[in-house]
Amino acid sequence: MVREYDVVIVGGGGAGLMTALECSKDSSLKIAVVSKVYPTRSHTGAAQGGVNASLGVADSRDNPQIHAYDTIRGSDFLADQSAVFYMTERAPELIYELDRLGVPFSRTEDGRIAQRPFGGATYPRTVFSADKTGHVILHTLFEQCLGRENVEFFNEFFLLDLIRDEEGVKGVSLLSIKDGEVITLGAKAVVLATGGFARIYWFRSTNAIGNTGDGQAVALRNGVPLKDMEFIQFHPTGLAKTGILLSEASRGEGGYLINRLGERFMKRYDPKRMELSTRDLVSRAIETEIREGRGFGKEPYSYVLLDLRHLGEKKIEERLPQVRKLAIDFEGKDPVKEPIPIRPTAHYCMGGIHVKDYKTLETPLKGLFAVGECACISVHGANRLGGNSLIELFVFGKTLGEYLRKYVKDLKLRPITYGERRKSEEFIEKIFKREGKEKLSQVRAEMGRINWEKVGIFREEGGLKEAYEKLTELLQRWEKIPLVDKGKVFNTNLIELLELRNMLELSRVVALSALNRKESRGGHRREDYPKRDDENFLKHSLVYYENGELKLKYLEVDTTKVGVK
Ligand code: FUM
Repeated sequence: MVREYDVVIVGGGGAGLMTALECSKDSSLKIAVVSKVYPTRSHTGAAQGGVNASLGVADSRDNPQIHAYDTIRGSDFLADQSAVFYMTERAPELIYELDRLGVPFSRTEDGRIAQRPFGGATYPRTVFSADKTGHVILHTLFEQCLGRENVEFFNEFFLLDLIRDEEGVKGVSLLSIKDGEVITLGAKAVVLATGGFARIYWFRSTNAIGNTGDGQAVALRNGVPLKDMEFIQFHPTGLAKTGILLSEASRGEGGYLINRLGERFMKRYDPKRMELSTRDLVSRAIETEIREGRGFGKEPYSYVLLDLRHLGEKKIEERLPQVRKLAIDFEGKDPVKEPIPIRPTAHYCMGGIHVKDYKTLETPLKGLFAVGECACISVHGANRLGGNSLIELFVFGKTLGEYLRKYVKDLKLRPITYGERRKSEEFIEKIFKREGKEKLSQVRAEMGRINWEKVGIFREEGGLKEAYEKLTELLQRWEKIPLVDKGKVFNTNLIELLELRNMLELSRVVALSALNRKESRGGHRREDYPKRDDENFLKHSLVYYENGELKLKYLEVDTTKVGVK
């Protein structure tokens, strides 16, 4: 049986829920939201420090143009400038909308929405709810969606494939994690909002275990190009042992970064902005301190310190309660009394599914749309500013919802054939019969190690070539990983196997794009090409499959608003 909807949204995080909420304003539309995890466990909930909008509360000189310029400068001029201006202009409206929906933002003494400083921002413009901002927004949006009669949730369903014909996309096939059934949803429009894929750096990432790039990989296999995939953001302050995120808010509120000599070493790298420099720069500074012997500990667990003691217990409890708890639980350090061991950790993917236009968010495949971290619009270019990911979700989730209400109006659902339905079932049946001697955990660990060592914060030609070859071998080895659990109910072995395939395919795309970008820009640092090269590389990379091979081409950057400096 095929269940039919006007819009199917795959992803129950901030972007997916915002799109659903906006679509649902037309009560004649039927909307399905599909989520691999229960929606309140989506990775949006992990965003700690805040969401950017130039409300001008903390400093009345701030405005959307300055927010746009900071974003473009932070992006190392790779962001598409019209899209950035659109985002920053709509940002305040979205904050007030979230406020009205019930998000409990932290307030100033006189009751206005409070704002804190974040890296790369001229004025304090990060709106927050202590250090649990993503969590409270996610819960509010989910609660709102639950109240809409025309939004139906498919929780704990894994995206297997798109269903498409020569006219475009007409549905999705999903695996029910609960009972192993493969089901099909027909749709006039399919939205991918599946989040990022920074779990390709398996053992050192802030990302939820499920951030495996399922939407990007499915889009890629269906011929849709992925854009700017070489640009991965390493967040400067991951906990040393685990890579768990310690919010940038800890530096926004005044924290110091200290090396083994007791120096605030950022004075060597960005004396003006110090700890509030952009994330790409701070991460490289920390790694350089460690490389040059001014860190603590031994590889692979070397670290520097984040010192919050001078903020005092009252401020730490009020503004950074989660930071304190994480440091105590995972490092055994109470930041009120001791500095916290930290090191950069894979955090965010600037690249993603290519969308042709920021006002429609349609991919080159008709009927397929992408939004949130899984999309590349591109508003972050080569490096995202902290606090800009959440605002992207809400501005473009709303934009997409507004557009889809009109888009689906005159469309008819196209029938899905038995053969189209069977394709995913047969794929799963084949996996159950698979034989081989490879081990899932071993292939996944090798992928994580290769990505971290060769496609990490510092990169060079030889390492990238080696990574591409090894990742290709790992993808071949993936075919020989047998299922150990042959059951149907909550078969996490099967889900991990499917996720690993997605991560391996995306890792190859990242390595290929990084190998061919012979310059340094934002989060992509080539030691053999240390300078930004606008003459040859002021362009977006697009990687896609052609006859089973990965191909690469380039696309112009929109620099029409402020040019390139
Ligand atoms: O550091 C943080 O709180 C993360 C925020 C972000 O990535 O935008």
